Amino acid sequence: MKSYRGITALVTGASKGIGAAYAHELARRGAHPVLVARSGDALRRVADDIARSHQADATTVAADLAAPGGVEGLVAELDRRDLTVDLLVNNAGSGAVGPFLTSSLRRHEDSVDLNVTALMRLTHVLGGRMAARGRGGIINVASTAAFQPMPYQASYAATKAFVLSFTEALAEELRDTGVRVMAAHPGATATGFFDGTTAELKPSFADAPQAVAAATLKAYDRGAVNAYPGRAVTRPMTWAGRVLPRVAAARLTGRLNRVLELDRAREIDGAER
Ligand SMILES: NC(=O)c1ccc[n+]([C@@H]2O[C@H](COP(=O)([O-])OP(=O)(O)OC[C@H]3O[C@@H](n4cnc5c(N)ncnc54)[C@H](OP(=O)(O)O)[C@@H]3O)[C@@H](O)[C@H]2O)c1
Repeated sequence: MKSYRGITALVTGASKGIGAAYAHELARRGAHPVLVARSGDALRRVADDIARSHQADATTVAADLAAPGGVEGLVAELDRRDLTVDLLVNNAGSGAVGPFLTSSLRRHEDSVDLNVTALMRLTHVLGGRMAARGRGGIINVASTAAFQPMPYQASYAATKAFVLSFTEALAEELRDTGVRVMAAHPGATATGFFDGTTAELKPSFADAPQAVAAATLKAYDRGAVNAYPGRAVTRPMTWAGRVLPRVAAARLTGRLNRVLELDRAREIDGAER
C-alpha cells in the first residue's frame, strides 16, 4: 500500500457512500482528508469516525456544489483556511432514474450541474493550481454507466460519458506535467444512491464502498487512466458498449433496466435526497 503521508486530499460527496469510503481509505494511507458535501452534520460524523479509526484529522467544508457559486465558495473557503489540495477526488454525483419525459426535469438538471459542471469547474481551478506547482492528482468518479447509453437513466449515463471523455482527454493533455488524472468506474455499489426513489440496488449485485475505494487508489498508484474498482465482471460489462453498434447497446441496456424495473421507477413524493 502506497503512503499518502503529507498529502491533502479533497473528496467531494464525502458525507456517505463511496465518498466517505474514499475519505477513510485516504486517511488510512496517511493523507489529510478534506471532506465536502451539503450536510455539515454528516460530514462531521465521518470526520469523527476517521479520527477514531485512523487517528487522523479530517477537515470538513459544507458546500452545495450544484448551486450557483457553490464551487467558487468552496475554493474561497479552502483559501481562507490556507489549504493546498494535492489530490482532488471528484466523487459527488447524483442521477435521476425512471422514464425521462415523466420524471422531474429538476433532478436531471441537478445531476448535470453536479456531475458535469461542478466537476469541470473544480478540476479547472484546483487542476490549474496543481499544474502551476508541477504536481498533483485528480480522480474523477464516473461509472460503468459511462460506456453506453442507458434508457431510464438517460441523463445520468450521459453525464458519466462526459466524465469519461473529459478525463481521458485531460490525462493526455497533462501527461508528463506531474499532474495525474484518472477516471474510476465503479459498478453497482451498496450506497444510498437511489434513496428518495422507488428504485433499489439489488444487494447481491452490489460491491462494498470500502472495496471500491481501496481498488480505486490501488489503480491510481499503478498509474492507470481508467480504473474498474468493482468485482471481476465490472470491466467486461463495459465492453458491450464498445463493440456493439450504439443502437444495439441502447436496446440491451434498455432491456436490462426494464428487468430491473427502472422503467417504472419514480421519485418518492416529498422524499429528502
Ligand atoms: N452507488 C453506485 O452504484 C455507483 C456506481 C457507479 C458510480 N457511482 C458514482 O459514485 C459517486 C458516489 O455515489 P454514491 O453511490 O456514494 O452516492 P450517495 O451515497 O448518494 O452519495 C452522494 C454524495 O454526494 C453528495 N452530494 C450530493 N449532491 C451534492 C451537492 N449538490 N453538492 C455537494 N455534495 C453533494 C452527498 O452528500 P449531501 O447529500 O450531504 O450533499 C453524498 O455525500 C457518484 O459520482 C456516483 O455517480 C455510484
